[in-house]
Amino acid sequence: MKQHTTDTVRLPFFGIGKLLPYLKNYKKAVFGMILGCLVGSLVDIGVPLFQRYALNHFIGGGTMDTVVLFVILYLALICGGALVNYVACIFSMQIEVGVDKDLRNAAFNHLQTLSFSYFNQNSVGYLHARVMSDTQKIGALVSWTLLDSLWQLGYVIGAVIVMLAINARLALLVIAVLPLTVLLFSVFQRGLTRANREIREINSQITGNFNEGITGARTIKTLVVEDTMERAFVSDTSRIRRRAIGAARLRGLFAVTMNFASSLALAVVLWKGGYIAKTQIGTFSMFMSYAQGLMEPIRWVVDAISDLITTQVNIERLTKLLETESDVKDAPEVVEIYGDCFTPKKENWEPIRGDISFRDVTFRYPDGEETVLEHFSLEIPFGTNVAIVGETGAGKSTLANLICRFYEPTEGQVLIDGRDARERSQLWLHSAIGYVLQTPHLFSGTLRENLLYGNPDATEADIRRALDLVSASEVADRLEHGLDTDVGEGGDLLSTGEKQLISFARAILADPRILVLDEATASVDTITEQKIQSAIDTIIRGRTSIVIAHRLSTVQHADVILAVHHGRIVEQGRHDELMAKRGYYYRLYTRQYEDEATKSALG
Ligand SMILES: Nc1ncnc2c1ncn2[C@@H]1O[C@H](COP(=O)(O)OP(=O)(O)OP(=O)(O)O)[C@@H](O)[C@H]1O
Ligand SMILES: [Mg+2]
Repeated sequence: MKQHTTDTVRLPFFGIGKLLPYLKNYKKAVFGMILGCLVGSLVDIGVPLFQRYALNHFIGGGTMDTVVLFVILYLALICGGALVNYVACIFSMQIEVGVDKDLRNAAFNHLQTLSFSYFNQNSVGYLHARVMSDTQKIGALVSWTLLDSLWQLGYVIGAVIVMLAINARLALLVIAVLPLTVLLFSVFQRGLTRANREIREINSQITGNFNEGITGARTIKTLVVEDTMERAFVSDTSRIRRRAIGAARLRGLFAVTMNFASSLALAVVLWKGGYIAKTQIGTFSMFMSYAQGLMEPIRWVVDAISDLITTQVNIERLTKLLETESDVKDAPEVVEIYGDCFTPKKENWEPIRGDISFRDVTFRYPDGEETVLEHFSLEIPFGTNVAIVGETGAGKSTLANLICRFYEPTEGQVLIDGRDARERSQLWLHSAIGYVLQTPHLFSGTLRENLLYGNPDATEADIRRALDLVSASEVADRLEHGLDTDVGEGGDLLSTGEKQLISFARAILADPRILVLDEATASVDTITEQKIQSAIDTIIRGRTSIVIAHRLSTVQHADVILAVHHGRIVEQGRHDELMAKRGYYYRLYTRQYEDEATKSALG
């Protein structure tokens, strides 16, 4: 606990202190930007002073002998100001894109270390918003908002000091208008922020509805709910319209109020300062410039504060993501030896044999209410071909998840080669496991790139052999550009069966000691099913394999079949032994057999 309080810098407000480590990388730029702001505000303050000098000396009856020097200095001031402005903007931009990039990388890298349960609990849309838009908002806050507010604050403070120095009485009168202005701006700002937030919320609802409308288009059509969807969409867009009109009205009022505040300050100068005009036209003009010019900077500062408050939510959400610890985490002493997922110390990795055992494992999903496995024990020596069968929801995929250490047992142990899986790193284990999911996933990119994920060093011949082994060569040959065909996002340009075959080939290229197959034969035709079956028979040779089978016809040759029912192994043995028992497996088998016979009779 102590560690937490000492290693993070905490400022009393806004949690913005958590961003300091990210700003540290840009110390020079931050320093340059702050300096630029100060110099820039000095230049802005200087301009009315120059005007004052010109009016007092050249028009108000002075001599013209300093006019050349004046022009040179004035030009230098204006050019210097522009240069400083440019440099400060460059620094600010460096901070913005740099912090944005660093935060995005940190968030993405951290996401990679999190466990499955985190992704079950947080939607893709939510995480996308954290990584893409929160980081952007924070980047803009620590660069442009900081730049604007420092610059404008510098101007306000400087102008007040100059006015006080030149004519304290008149200055105090102008300053008296300021609190009122700040108050007015704050009220408007709050209203505007609220309106904008509501608009954003409705907008994200619309995006959500839109996504569902597109991704669920088929289901919407078959359920004939187009009109319901349309009504929901139209109602949201109408709400946004109403809110947007409200916000525009408020903005209009805001602009009018700003003008009013400027005019009020100006009126004060005209009313109480008119007497100076007779003798010192320059000073009078300077006061007019400041009085009018103070309102805009104050608005910027109020804006910046409100930005800081609204971005607070983004900071909190992003830092929460960055501070989330994975449910499945390698212990520090394990990381020391085996490395982590970004810097693995492969030289310390012992070769894996492929023995797996469950010892008295009880398991409940972190967000689940029921215990899925209770006091479950099982030995799987290397080279065994295990088939797991059971009804839907029995806990088959859960067993696979535990073997892969995507989840850890709530109680008990999963041992790999006789040692608790937690004694070695996740990466060590994953590098030896091939897992073909129930829903095969390919990445966007070409077929070849997808296959090379299994083994980046594979040669063309290796790829061909792997494809041949699982009868997937035809899939590649049929495509327009062969192996170099783009498979689309998630491999969607291929059918499910094809994706399954390709993921088998990918698993072969990886050549894992342990192979886990969560079968999805239900969704493919008989010919593809046969291909998949013979692919499975080929790739399980010489490995420990766990095949979760829905079609019992596919498990008859397994070394051991586990029949799982409500998270318990109710029967265990070879196909003929279990059939002879006439128990749970027998009933499952005959039921499926009869179903299929009926289907084919009907077909
Ligand atoms: N991520 C999760 N969080 C909470 N509960 C879960 C989660 N995944 C599965 N479960 C629950 O655990 C139980 C076992 O699920 P599991 O996915 O292991 O079943 P399965 O045997 O693979 O089923 P299927 O044949 O349909 O794939 C189910 O009751 C399910 O509701
Ligand atoms: Mg499953």
